[in-house]
Amino acid sequence: MSNPLRVVHPIPAEAWPTAEEAADARLFSPVTLGHGCTLTARTWVPAMVPWRATDEGEVTDAVLAWYGRYADGEPGAIVVEATGIRDVPSGPLLRIGHDRYIAGLRRLVETVRARSAGRTRVFIQLIDFLAIRRRPESAVYFRRFLQVDDGHRGRLAALLADVSLSHAADDVVRAALATLPDEQLDAVLTARECDDLRRGARERVTDVHLPHIRALPEVLPGLFADAAARAEAAGFDGVELHYAHAYTMASFLSALNDRADGYGQTREGRIRLPREVFAAVRARVSERFCVGCRLLGDEAIAGGSTAADGAYFGAALAVAGMDFVSVSKGGKFEDARTPKVGQAVYPYTGESGHECMPTVRSDVRGPFGRNLGLARGVKAAIAAAGLSTPVIAAGGVNGYRLAEAALRAGDCDVVASARQSLADPDWWRKVRLGRGAEVRRCKLTNYCEALDEHHKEVTCQLWDRVVSTEPAGRSRDGRRRLEAPKWEER
Ligand SMILES: Cc1cc2nc3c(=O)[nH]c(=O)nc-3n(C[C@H](O)[C@H](O)[C@H](O)COP(=O)(O)O)c2cc1C
Ligand code: SF4
Repeated sequence: MSNPLRVVHPIPAEAWPTAEEAADARLFSPVTLGHGCTLTARTWVPAMVPWRATDEGEVTDAVLAWYGRYADGEPGAIVVEATGIRDVPSGPLLRIGHDRYIAGLRRLVETVRARSAGRTRVFIQLIDFLAIRRRPESAVYFRRFLQVDDGHRGRLAALLADVSLSHAADDVVRAALATLPDEQLDAVLTARECDDLRRGARERVTDVHLPHIRALPEVLPGLFADAAARAEAAGFDGVELHYAHAYTMASFLSALNDRADGYGQTREGRIRLPREVFAAVRARVSERFCVGCRLLGDEAIAGGSTAADGAYFGAALAVAGMDFVSVSKGGKFEDARTPKVGQAVYPYTGESGHECMPTVRSDVRGPFGRNLGLARGVKAAIAAAGLSTPVIAAGGVNGYRLAEAALRAGDCDVVASARQSLADPDWWRKVRLGRGAEVRRCKLTNYCEALDEHHKEVTCQLWDRVVSTEPAGRSRDGRRRLEAPKWEER
């Protein structure tokens, strides 16, 4: 549900630095992550799925072009999009669940190294996610998916004052349910069934009655470790374990995780699997390989993990030996918008989604640097544990002054900009060269996110407005550019 207190915040004017000022900026100073991985600058392109892989999860020329374009801007690091650790079909998302993916990923690494002249470190985000179905037609749900039981029969009989329904055949119960309005269905179906009906069935880490969900703590450490070993074989500088947003590992960390098998409930229980996954990964890769994670500083949902939990988890994972901790916020299924029939629920559409990718239409705090406080909290907890593990902050950073001030204030050690880097992949380089006035500034209106929601090739609304004669910059249908326009440096 959208927040009625939102107003539109204008993009603030920017006082760009001269080249001399940029040379002294903390933003363009080096930083060393764990395991000796030094970034040439504290600038970071966080993971963003562009939907350019093949349906088999292979790297394509379009994937190479996409990451090559970010590398042109020479950020300190690029994190390649969330990449599936299992060898299962998942549409045009990159995969790393088998050795056959190594060759393609190696080309990706080589592209980034060549296009950044070796200035950019390249990591890959490793993700596990659970099954999710599209929202069904209600008739289809009742006919095919609902498991009718005596609870339904009893509640239906009471609701309709018809005792014959308390021992009716499944088909009769299904047919009766299909005629009921929503308010009456609420009285007959369980909360989970209502959710399956209205938002599409979605597995949860708490579904321990399902053997494959119960077994997640046994299988995930090995799957993540195998994937990390492949990432090292492909030449990546490191991996980012995806412990954030709506996916499996974040769901283990969630305060909503009430698993009673030692992998839920308390903070210690919830962090147990993330720690075990990390230990398995670390044991499989070399001492030259960097292993960090992305986690939520705050889940931003009712009953979810809070900023205090986020700080605790950040510090505990740093103590476990993570080489960096990247802090995000929200992006959960629990409060996502109800999808249309035939569509899947998308975790960036509710209030927690807004917290993850804040737009200019925001509450009074506005979107700019909105989540820096969470990074500051994680950094303080890491410091209190006696460590200095670098913290990466993201969320609404689309200008130089904000990024530099965050670093100088000690909110974080590295600044990540996702949508600003999408809008203008050259922006870090332009700023470093004292040519900030040429930056194409992200409007924070989320046209790109809407494309991601519908699994369409992600582009930026600003690209088409740039007059250019490059034919290769045009999409196949001649309307949408699939790559950011080239910056003529002269
Ligand atoms: C198109 C798109 C795809 C994204 N895909 C991922 C992803 O694969 N993994 C991830 O952790 N975050 C993903 N994000 C979230 C960004 O990494 C980032 O946290 C978010 O956009 C907020 O940062 P920003 O304000 O600088 O854009 C995605 C964001 C966008 C816009
Ligand atoms: S589409 Fe909009 S929000 Fe996305 S990168 Fe471009 S300007 Fe920014």
